[in-house]
Amino acid sequence: MGMFAAGNPGESTKAELYRELTGQLRALTNDETDPVANMANCAALIFYSVPRLNWAGFYLLKDGELVLGPFQGRPACIRIAIGSGVCGRVAETHTALRVPDVTNFQGHIACDSASKSEIVVPILTGDSRLIGVLDVDSPELDRFDAEDEAGFKAIAGIMARKL
Ligand code: SME
Repeated sequence: MGMFAAGNPGESTKAELYRELTGQLRALTNDETDPVANMANCAALIFYSVPRLNWAGFYLLKDGELVLGPFQGRPACIRIAIGSGVCGRVAETHTALRVPDVTNFQGHIACDSASKSEIVVPILTGDSRLIGVLDVDSPELDRFDAEDEAGFKAIAGIMARKL
């Protein structure tokens, strides 16, 4: 197995997958302070380790709106207003959202028509100020469950200390 490859998901539980992923993320970001480099590696790590995704990346709060950060996947919307779409809603409420079918989410912003379900988690400072959001999309309906949410929240927690 490659240094940064996750195990075969058929052979490990989802909890193990995210445990391995967070360990790899800590190792990758530990000695590096550059936020763009760390977000870029984080997006790549998620995209190539978590199965059945078509997009994974960051939106960062800049001057009162979300601006696209490092990601893997097709080119995406660059600016998202707070409150709009899934990402904007999470930025507004500071609460993670799992959307099992994006066509049923009022105001969903379709960047890649392949996206069928989506999870967005907030990235918050220790004193609960918004830094940005982590957005992960899948071409499968209802792709993300509570274990995925816990995993991506752990990833967002690691990244919050590096941004
Ligand atoms: N679908 C998102 C927009 C971002 S892209 O999917 C990468 C939303 O509604 O917030």
